[in-house]
Amino acid sequence: MYYFKFKGRKLYCEGVCLKELAQAFGTPLYVYSYKTIVEHFLKIKKAFSEVSPLICYSVKANSNLSLLKILVDKGAGLDVVSGGELFRAKKVNCPSQRVVYASVGKTEKEIKEAIDYGIFAFNVESLTELKRINSLAGKFKKKVDVALRFNPDISADTHRYITTAKKETKFGMALDAIKEIILKRGDFPNLNIVGIHIHIGSQITKPEPFIRAIKKAKALIDYAQRKGVLLNYLNIGGGLGIVYQKEKPQTAESFAKKILPLVKGLKLKLILEPGRFIVGNAGVLITRVIYIKETSCRRFIIVDAGMNDLIRPALYSAYHQIIPLSKSLKAGFSAKLSDVVGPVCESADFLGKNRVLNVEEGDYLAVLGAGAYSFSMASNYNSRCKPAEVLVKDKKFYLIRKRETYQDLIRKEVLFEK
Ligand code: LLP
Repeated sequence: MYYFKFKGRKLYCEGVCLKELAQAFGTPLYVYSYKTIVEHFLKIKKAFSEVSPLICYSVKANSNLSLLKILVDKGAGLDVVSGGELFRAKKVNCPSQRVVYASVGKTEKEIKEAIDYGIFAFNVESLTELKRINSLAGKFKKKVDVALRFNPDISADTHRYITTAKKETKFGMALDAIKEIILKRGDFPNLNIVGIHIHIGSQITKPEPFIRAIKKAKALIDYAQRKGVLLNYLNIGGGLGIVYQKEKPQTAESFAKKILPLVKGLKLKLILEPGRFIVGNAGVLITRVIYIKETSCRRFIIVDAGMNDLIRPALYSAYHQIIPLSKSLKAGFSAKLSDVVGPVCESADFLGKNRVLNVEEGDYLAVLGAGAYSFSMASNYNSRCKPAEVLVKDKKFYLIRKRETYQDLIRKEVLFEK
């Protein structure tokens, strides 16, 4: 399942030596393993096969077209959150009936585009949004399927920025609000309320929060059915955690074992929206040491990737393992703790702190677990060009996004001239 391994002293992705890729394409460079992506997708599919779920890969985790195409071709649907992500779904010919759309802030333009594409369902996050979709559906003379996103008010035991199911968060609707909508569904003649959606957060390593949320959703489904609303599906969102450091996340199998007994009796189609689980450990960020800088109190390994390329450490204090691409032969080095930092002008610009690394200027490092929320959160801050992305399949490699150039940085700018 994990295809970044040392062969002798060199780190490989499947059958390709990462140092050779770094030399061929330059750094910083994202590299993804085809096998890891596909196998993780199939793991979930197999674990839940009893109920033949629709697995909508969460595009935000990594939205590179090639990755989307690989998953769509294997039968995945897509979970999108913007017109831009919907555009990507169309570009890879994702069948419209495999697209679900969540977001607290869908604009009219975005709603129209999604209705026009004929997506499977909107995951609706507020009463006002419901009204908006109803009126736009009316204009299109269409009956549109929607799921109501339920905020079950539970804590998911993860970083506060990625917990989404506490009542203080902006996501979904409270139990009473949804009950009210169910009672007043006649107000929305252009909508079919066909599902309940929950998504409780991300990087959740234990089953309990999911179980608590699903139990609450079940009570809501019972209520809807008692009131004569025939729901077709339950969407339990994404959120499955992966290993970054020493976490012991649940496997797809153990997760399914806990969830299936809860959902089997419902006779509803199950939808899942995994993102990180599929791509998180399928990617690494390769970076090169520019300088070693020693100060009176610290040793800095200054590399050519920064927070603009991978913001997770700066934003969530996330831990990513960092290892050299070549195991060193150098004897007798003193294992000094170092901070691995980028060139960006922010103190938060670090990839790792207090790491034991035996490297010199010019050496290459791999930042592991960089397949999800890494390139997709990259920016051009400090006018830095976004890295290239390469996909490895067996012994072959494919450039799936070119490195940006300085011209790309200014392409959309219009020079003020008086
Ligand atoms: N469905 C919905 C409605 C979501 O909002 C998300 C993620 C997912 C599915 C996929 O969740 P996953 O299976 O990947 O956990 N940038 C953060 C993570 C933000 C997650 C946002 N929503 C990070 O780097 O950890």
